[in-house]
Amino acid sequence: MDKFIVLQDIITSRRSTKPAVLNGRKIDDQQIQQLLSLANWAPTHANTEPWRFIVYSGDAVQQFCHRHAELYKQSTPPEKFNTAKYEKQQHNGDKASHLIAVYMQRGTNPNITELEEICATAAAVQNILLGAETLDIAVLWSTGGSTLAPAMKEFLGTGQGRPHDRTAVHGVCGRTRQTRPPPPHRTQNKMDQRLSGLTPENLFFPSRCFLSKQKLRPITG
Ligand SMILES: Cc1cc2nc3c(=O)[nH]c(=O)nc-3n(C[C@H](O)[C@H](O)[C@H](O)COP(=O)(O)O)c2cc1C
Repeated sequence: MDKFIVLQDIITSRRSTKPAVLNGRKIDDQQIQQLLSLANWAPTHANTEPWRFIVYSGDAVQQFCHRHAELYKQSTPPEKFNTAKYEKQQHNGDKASHLIAVYMQRGTNPNITELEEICATAAAVQNILLGAETLDIAVLWSTGGSTLAPAMKEFLGTGQGRPHDRTAVHGVCGRTRQTRPPPPHRTQNKMDQRLSGLTPENLFFPSRCFLSKQKLRPITG
């Protein structure tokens, strides 16, 4: 099959899955390793490869979720504390198989900005999400609760001596039989609004156009 069609199908079928609808079935560690090896193919400026993963499985998934809920409790002022959120966080791992915590390890190349390192880490995460779609693995990537808090860095053991590393997301992985909701309406109309410099003329003759910075201009010469 046409490579574009295959990739298009994977990208447009991918959906986030809430931990509450996981069914407790386990994923082979080998499949998680396959996902991580896809992550390693993400684009990375100057080959800094800043993505780092900590994988939890078995009881450690529940332990992570309990600890995460406690961090949320400790770091939230009483007037903002939400008991329902706390309890949900405690149970996020109950039916999960694995949990992947992702952080960005800041490199030492002064020419590479933090934003670039974060972008590269996000690209690695997207590779995992697309791989998971092909292996029928349900995932929710979350920055919720205390994921981005300094306390989470300490908990993951990534904070010592590396103040510029950043926790990124954690992904709860499992299996589900539940049909995921259809893709949200991501219309061509919206795409037009997101692509600056698009004019009716080059919209109809895209092969005669190329993207240069923010502009889509007709090719001349
Ligand atoms: C950086 C990032 C952080 C996210 N954090 C959360 C989160 O904390 N909780 C959550 O339920 N979903 C989170 N999501 C998932 C989004 O809610 C989800 O991608 C969005 O609803 C679109 O649905 P889809 O992934 O099925 O297309 C996050 C997604 C991204 C990219």
